[in-house]
Amino acid sequence: RNAVQPASGSRPGAKTPTASAARRHKSAPFPQLNASAYRARAARGESFIEKRLLIGELKMNPVQHIAIIMDGNGRWAEQRGLPRWKGHEMGAQIVRRVSEAAIRQGIPILTLFAFSSENWKRPGDEVRILFNLFQRYLLTERQALLGNGIRISAFGRRDRIPPLVREALSSVERDTRHCKRLHLRIALDYGARHEIMEAA
Ligand code: FPP
Repeated sequence: RNAVQPASGSRPGAKTPTASAARRHKSAPFPQLNASAYRARAARGESFIEKRLLIGELKMNPVQHIAIIMDGNGRWAEQRGLPRWKGHEMGAQIVRRVSEAAIRQGIPILTLFAFSSENWKRPGDEVRILFNLFQRYLLTERQALLGNGIRISAFGRRDRIPPLVREALSSVERDTRHCKRLHLRIALDYGARHEIMEAA
């Protein structure tokens, strides 16, 4: 129950808003447009999640943010007699399916904890494979991200990330900045110690 947050702009216990209810309500959160005007805006990519809820294109989901720790890749592979890197490969492939599922469920924010500062202690080959997979994801998924309205941003330390991966990341972050359907946040080189120092 604690994890359930009302969507921004809605009151706890409020019914799912409709265009007519919004028109009636003095403090309607959006300009007084009818549903077809909202649809036209959505088609031009100007929509954002609340407008889509308003016209009933998306169901309101009380869960507004899901965070996933990308764990268990090695075990997944070992259980199938495969090398650990195969598990990482599958972990990277699954990101698209999880993102699309979040969109279908009307969840606007998805955070993936992908690579912690502790993970630098892994064998060099494994670290290289992980960053290759991440770079491949950024290069091959760009069009799908834009098509699905998915904005990518990363948080954590950037200075230790291989330069080519850092450049690919900045470029996809820049290109998807305007996307409003899902905000996919990726935690890279993250750790409590660094976050406390940043906040101080
Ligand atoms: C933990 O599995 C997983 C990781 C350390 C890395 C996850 C990151 C990727 C797959 C890179 C691609 C990322 C994106 C966002 C495209 P583990 O080895 O600890 O597995 P175990 O818990 O079974 O030992």
